[in-house]
Amino acid sequence: MPGYVVVGTQWGDEGKGKVVDVLSKKVDCIVRFQGGNNAGHTVVVNNEKHILHLLPSGVLHEHATCIIGPGVVIDPFVLLEEISILQSKGMACDHIYISDRAHLIMPYHILIDTLEEKYAGENKIGTTKKGIGPCYADKYARQGFRVHELLDFEHFKSKLKTILEKKNQLLTNLYQEEPLSYEAMVEQFANILPEIQKRTMESLTYVNEALDNQKLVLFEGAQAAMLDINYGTYPYVTSSSPTSAGVCAGAGVAPSKIDRVIGVVKAYSTRVGEGPFVSELHDEIGEHIRQVGHEFGATTGRSRRCGWLDLNVVKHATLLNGLSDLVITKIDILSDFEEIKICTGYEIDGNVIHHIPSSLRDLEKAKPVYTTLPGWKQDISDIRDFDQLPENCKRYVKFIEEYTGVRVSMISVGPERNHNIYLYPLI
Ligand code: GDP
Ligand code: IMO
Ligand code: MG
Repeated sequence: MPGYVVVGTQWGDEGKGKVVDVLSKKVDCIVRFQGGNNAGHTVVVNNEKHILHLLPSGVLHEHATCIIGPGVVIDPFVLLEEISILQSKGMACDHIYISDRAHLIMPYHILIDTLEEKYAGENKIGTTKKGIGPCYADKYARQGFRVHELLDFEHFKSKLKTILEKKNQLLTNLYQEEPLSYEAMVEQFANILPEIQKRTMESLTYVNEALDNQKLVLFEGAQAAMLDINYGTYPYVTSSSPTSAGVCAGAGVAPSKIDRVIGVVKAYSTRVGEGPFVSELHDEIGEHIRQVGHEFGATTGRSRRCGWLDLNVVKHATLLNGLSDLVITKIDILSDFEEIKICTGYEIDGNVIHHIPSSLRDLEKAKPVYTTLPGWKQDISDIRDFDQLPENCKRYVKFIEEYTGVRVSMISVGPERNHNIYLYPLI
C-alpha cells in the first residue's frame, strides 16, 4: 500500500520539511492535511534556503502533485505570496492545488488571534498570530468559509455580510477596535478569485484514486504530537490533530490506506511559545544548543526554547501515531558535548511516571528523570554510513530505538538533501 505519513514527534520544528523534501523525490503526490501557515518548514538545496509555510515541503519537486488538503486552514493571500516567491525563482508552480473543502483564514481571524493573545496577558498561548485558532473555531461552530464558497462569489458576498456584522460587533464592543470594512474585504477577495479558482480541486477523489492506482502519496504533517488539540499540553497546543489520525479526517483517506507512519525526532527538544517543557534547559547548555542548532523560528523569528531529548514525549507520539519508522534529525548539533542527557521519566510528587499526564498542573510540577550517556565529541556531518559513526553516537541512536521500540530508518546530520545516513529504506 503506497500511503506514507510524515509527522513531528515533539513540539514541531523537528526537520519535517527537510525529510519530506528528501522523500518527495520518489513520490507522486504530497498532501498537507492539517494546520496552516503557522508552520515554518525550511528546505535547503545547494545552500539555498526555501522557507515554506502553507505549501507542502515537497513542492520543489515539480513532478509531484502538491495538494493543500481539506483539513488545512488556508490564508489565500499567504498562499499566493508563497507561490509567487517560487515563481520568482523560476518554478512554473503548475503542480500546486488546494482542496475545495479547506477552510479560509479570514482577515478577522488574524485580528482576533492577535487580540485574544493580547488580552490573555500572562495566560497567552504564544500563538503564531496567523488566525489558526479562530479559523478552526469558526469551522467547528459551522460559520466558516470553505474554498468552494469563495468560488460562488455572490453567495460568498452575502454570507460575508452577515458574518462580518457579527465579527464587527465583537471587535468594536468587546475589544474596542475599529470595525473591518465589508467593501474593502469583498474587493480584496475579488482580486484573488481567478488565481484561487485555477488551483482548486476536489481532492478526495484524486487522492483516493492515486492510492488505488498504486501511486505513492505522502501525507505531510505540520506541528507535532505535543501540540495536538486532544493529546498535547492543552491549552498550549494548536487547533488541529497533527497525527496519523488527522490524516484520515484531514485528507479524506481511510486508515487502511496508510502503510507507513514516519516520525521525525530531533536529537534534542525545542518548543516555541508558552506551555510546560519538562526537560527545558535554562543554562549555557540550552543556549549552546540554540546557537549551534540555529533554533530561531522560521515563522515568527522567535527564539526557540531548548532542552534535552525527552523520550517520554517521543513515546507518547509513538503511541498516538502508530509509528513504523523514526528519522532522527540534527544529531550533528550534539557533537560538542562531553555527556548527553535523555529524559526517560517524570518525577511528580515523589512518584516517577513514564507517560504524559493530562493535567497541566502535574506537568508543571514534573522534574525530569535523566539517563546520561557519553558524548562523541567529533564532527559527524560528513558521515554517510552508520558503521562509521562514533560508537557513542551509535549508542545514542540505539538507546532511542530501544526505548521507543521503533526502528530508526534514517539519521539526518545536516540541513542539505544529501546529509543523511540510511539504515532502512524509507520509500
Ligand atoms: P520543521 O518545521 O519540522 O520542518 O522544521 P524547521 O524547518 O522549522 O526547523 C528545522 C531546521 O533545522 C531547519 O532550519 C532545517 O534546515 C534544519 N535541519 C534539518 N535537519 C537538520 C540536520 O540534520 N542537521 C542540521 N544541522 N540542521 C538540520
Ligand atoms: P512546524 O510545522 C513549532 C505553536 C505556537 C504556539 C502553539 C499555538 O514548523 O513544526 P497556533 O498559531 O498554531 O495557534 O499556535 O503552537 N506552533 C508551532 N511550534 N512549530 C510549528 O510548526 C508550530 N505551529 C504552531 O508557537 O505555541
Ligand atoms: Mg518549523
